[in-house]
Amino acid sequence: MRGFRKEGTLKDGTRVILRPMVREDRDKLIDFFSRVADEDRQFLRNNVRDPKVIDTWVNNIDYHKVFPLLAEVDDKIIGDATLHMRRSGWKRHLGNVRVVVAKEYQRRGLGTLLINEIAELATEFGLEKLVSEIYFHAPGALAAFKRAGFGVKAVFEDLVKDQYGNNADMIVMVCDVEARRDRLRARTLATP
Ligand SMILES: CC(C)(COP(=O)(O)OP(=O)(O)OC[C@H]1O[C@@H](n2cnc3c(N)ncnc32)[C@H](O)[C@@H]1OP(=O)(O)O)[C@@H](O)C(=O)NCCC(=O)NCCS
Repeated sequence: MRGFRKEGTLKDGTRVILRPMVREDRDKLIDFFSRVADEDRQFLRNNVRDPKVIDTWVNNIDYHKVFPLLAEVDDKIIGDATLHMRRSGWKRHLGNVRVVVAKEYQRRGLGTLLINEIAELATEFGLEKLVSEIYFHAPGALAAFKRAGFGVKAVFEDLVKDQYGNNADMIVMVCDVEARRDRLRARTLATP
């Protein structure tokens, strides 16, 4: 997986490199997360502005536990999607997906591109379903996961809090990896 490298194109034609995070990405990641907007940071689980958090990530890379996929333009990180997995237990066939894109690159198709790539890689990790937890008032996140083949499975009313302490609903979206593949295959065959 370390050698995985792919090129993608955003809606405006910008070319991006998709590749897994490596140990040497520390400084680039610190720079990226310093550029992630505060309103977006509230949805991330860790305090990404703390260099110690980044150190922990880059020093403990285990692609079969957390697969971090980075998007780069001109040697600068502009997006990050992570696939979180468990080796055993009742959730061993599930992957949790999280994604964040730098503000200046949002609404250009990058979120969808990253989630699609994670969904493609999911079979290689032996996963059957992908799950994502999303804040109810995040239209970009809902649209990006939907476009990548996820559907809404549950709404938890009043479960989470926004950055101001207001309670809000959380949505759980799920993607059946095999069914997604079949849908894409059928669409390709139907295209003349
Ligand atoms: C979720 C997120 C990664 C989406 O990234 P993105 O690069 O803007 O996504 P895309 O450009 O692929 O957008 C997907 C769709 O959402 C729409 N969209 C994006 N932002 C939107 C917004 N603020 N309001 C309405 N629609 C929006 C886009 O127009 C696009 O729809 P389209 O393809 O029909 O035009 C980005 O908003 C983000 O980093 N949010 C903060 C972190 C977060 O909430 N992550 C999700 C939980 S893990």
